[in-house]
Amino acid sequence: MEPITIKPPKPITLQGIADQAERAVAMMTEIRSAMLAPTARKSPPIFNLSQLAAMCGIEKGSLSHRMSRGDLPAGRLNTSGSRREFSLAEARTWIREYRRDGLRPAGAEAVTIAIGNFKGGVSKTTTAVTLAQGLTLLGHKVLVIDTDPQGSLTTLFGILPDTEVEENDTILPLAMGSETSIRYAIRPTYWDGIDLVAAAPVLFGAEFALPARQTQEPGFEFWRVLDLGIDDVRADYDVIVIDTPPALSYTTINAFMASNGIIMPLPPNALDFASASQFWSLFADLTSELITKRGLSKSFDFIHVLLARVDSSDAASNIVRQWIGSTYAEKVLPVEIPKTAVTATTSAEFGTVYDISRYDGNAKTFKRARDAYDTFVSYIEGSVRSVWQQQAAAARGQ
Ligand SMILES: Nc1ncnc2c1ncn2[C@@H]1O[C@H](COP(=O)(O)OP(=O)(O)O)[C@@H](O)[C@H]1O
Ligand SMILES: [Mg+2]
Repeated sequence: MEPITIKPPKPITLQGIADQAERAVAMMTEIRSAMLAPTARKSPPIFNLSQLAAMCGIEKGSLSHRMSRGDLPAGRLNTSGSRREFSLAEARTWIREYRRDGLRPAGAEAVTIAIGNFKGGVSKTTTAVTLAQGLTLLGHKVLVIDTDPQGSLTTLFGILPDTEVEENDTILPLAMGSETSIRYAIRPTYWDGIDLVAAAPVLFGAEFALPARQTQEPGFEFWRVLDLGIDDVRADYDVIVIDTPPALSYTTINAFMASNGIIMPLPPNALDFASASQFWSLFADLTSELITKRGLSKSFDFIHVLLARVDSSDAASNIVRQWIGSTYAEKVLPVEIPKTAVTATTSAEFGTVYDISRYDGNAKTFKRARDAYDTFVSYIEGSVRSVWQQQAAAARGQ
């Protein structure tokens, strides 16, 4: 066989890389507008009567009966007049009415949950968004904070980090000390019940600002910036979900220190298992330096390991599942998120299972994924409610 000849390489200059970056950003803008046209914004799902009844935990008949009272949103008939439809906001009004007992009690405040694992691609961001969406479908109001400069979570909300996010939309001013409450950065999203603090590459600046302030400002505790920053809004939300970057960075430590609980998505394969062990060792070393050695303390109300992106055809995953079980024991949630093609279709590429109103693929595949996320969300709601109960009891002076 003839040897393959390759043209002598031309050096790629930094300008060349800058040009290429510009083309990639332009392509993202084009994809975004094509996918989300004509409004160039994502739109939330709509619900029919059966879906609404299921979400309220009642029969369709009871729902129609209740509708005749006229005190809850009646939705509207679709264009062909064959079906009644409810917007997400309308559905949530119904859900809040029927799930009153499950909502945040007086005296309780937002429970903050960080999604962490310093490996990329383990589904941290997907977990953060589905959790937030799932909780709103149970009637809760959620603030989502993106602390990953890559802004993947921000993108899932239909916002382009490179062109649509300014420094003031992110936690950077908090990190730099020019703001003390996160309120300035909060924006509503296309999803009723979810507000967002976005992220963009400028947020890399926090990795310089925080250590610099640590050496310059006496008494400054770099790891408490976010914790103190959200104090002002804890009463406004039921849950605050923080997505973290794939690194144990200054920002990530802030996310954990601001949290009541941690969820670690963990695919059952050997490399991810090894990486997770390193994560906890590093976490223990760091917190011992920062917290314990200074005579301070920090405790978490819960830590959950979520088996994620589980490939049922992968025989090796059974062994790793056993390792995970013996290592993390009761911290492992009794639910697995299957590796699924549901969000791999073009229309849902920048969305989650909860964004899909009607799935064009196999109905069973969709149901399996959706059920797994529903179960996951209800376990987390259970953890959240037990924290609320403690807070409410403390507020009553017990
Ligand atoms: N259950 C799943 N099945 C198949 N692909 C998934 C699943 N969860 C996430 N993904 C995909 O895996 C990739 C990484 O997920 P992401 O949530 O961005 O992870 P991370 O935030 O940990 O880097 C994305 O392309 C995402 O769409
Ligand atoms: Mg991510």
